[in-house]
Amino acid sequence: MFESKKSPSNTIRIAPAAGLRGDFQLPGDKSISHRSAMFAAIGAGVSRLSNYSSARDCQSTLDCLEELGVKIKREPGLIIVEGVGLAGPNGLREAARALDVGNSGSTIRMLSGILAGQNFTTEITGDESIQRRPMKRVIDPLTLMGARIEAREGGFAPLKIHGGDLKAIEYTPPVASAQVKSCALLAGLFAEGVTTVIEKTPTRNHTEVMMRECGAAIEIEKTESGERISVAGRKPLVALGDYTVAGDLSSASFFIVAALIAPDAELRLRHIGVNASRAALIDALKSVGARIEIENPRVAHGESVADILVRSSDLKGDLELSGAVIANLIDEIPILAIAGARLDGTLVVRDARELRVKESDRIRSIVDNLRRMGVEIEEFDDGLRLSGKQRLRGAPVDSFDDHRIAMSFAVAGLIAEGETEILNAGAASVSLPEFYHLLAASGANIK
Ligand code: S3P
Repeated sequence: MFESKKSPSNTIRIAPAAGLRGDFQLPGDKSISHRSAMFAAIGAGVSRLSNYSSARDCQSTLDCLEELGVKIKREPGLIIVEGVGLAGPNGLREAARALDVGNSGSTIRMLSGILAGQNFTTEITGDESIQRRPMKRVIDPLTLMGARIEAREGGFAPLKIHGGDLKAIEYTPPVASAQVKSCALLAGLFAEGVTTVIEKTPTRNHTEVMMRECGAAIEIEKTESGERISVAGRKPLVALGDYTVAGDLSSASFFIVAALIAPDAELRLRHIGVNASRAALIDALKSVGARIEIENPRVAHGESVADILVRSSDLKGDLELSGAVIANLIDEIPILAIAGARLDGTLVVRDARELRVKESDRIRSIVDNLRRMGVEIEEFDDGLRLSGKQRLRGAPVDSFDDHRIAMSFAVAGLIAEGETEILNAGAASVSLPEFYHLLAASGANIK
């Protein structure tokens, strides 16, 4: 029923719910899972990854690494990766066919950094959405480092990456993007010299944290021009070893907002990654009265982790999000807009033009669906604005084949009058295949 294919059975119907209850753990963070597989692959030795994400995107990363000769065993709850080491005769090997990343922007952009450092050519592509997403942002730094990359006119996948001897560069990405930063730093591991990325706006730092875990020579310096992240190339990396991926905060955000806006709800989400470069949603919601408690904060493998308790709340006040904070909640803006529709105040999001080049044009997807549900919302080139505690009407909405849009509107359906129908609801499995089951198990009425 929740398969991701375009068929009538790929539609779900959701009715209002009260009294949501739940206490559960979520699969591993998607961003950390991708990185854990890639670092496990290029580190020397065996890594045993627990709570690896069940997201289709993260399976794509494993599939691509296997095509490159990495031995990976999938056991229940465990992914065992035999690292090939950074270089040498036992390193990655040329793939027999084009790599297919499916819907995963993180896979194509980050893996391109690794592929640029190999002495062979790799073709890499993905689904329709991937072929529409900008790749010039990774082609540019990798070309400066000495790789030759062929792309479709305008810098789109399929990409053909002719890897080789790379030289270190100092690079300031023109967009705030953790994928671009990570791509350049991963390529830097294979380059002669010290590669530096300068971030004017800090983005999620999972790559830097994991590089430390693997013993890479990485240095981070805060300067007036931004954060300088430097890594020395051609130094051996150790395997991650036994590594447990923290639960996915971006997936948790759907349950957090569900519990906040649905009546009489209480959900406890365990072992969730709350890295500060990802957790701006929690602070934003708390600033308008969200009852969210961070319990048992701890650090595991250099990442902050906690349990999160959420209860129904009266959201009240104005929330203006723009500038640097956007990078720290970019993936949560769709679900934040649903909370915004119930906010007794005004939600304004600006400086979020990047949303237009995600899995769908997320500004359009949010505005279009909310309007179908009778919500008044203003669309900007780089954001949106909505005001007042609005009533949502159940209506047919579309995921636009975007996982975060599917899940956001399922949550909207919990508080809409009547029935909400989500077309192409199976898109959710791109990041959380268990989503509808977990929501239903918490008391939602989903058919
Ligand atoms: C990600 C970075 C962000 C985010 C994406 C995952 C990552 O993308 O939207 O879902 O894992 O590095 P950008 O780097 O394009 O901002």
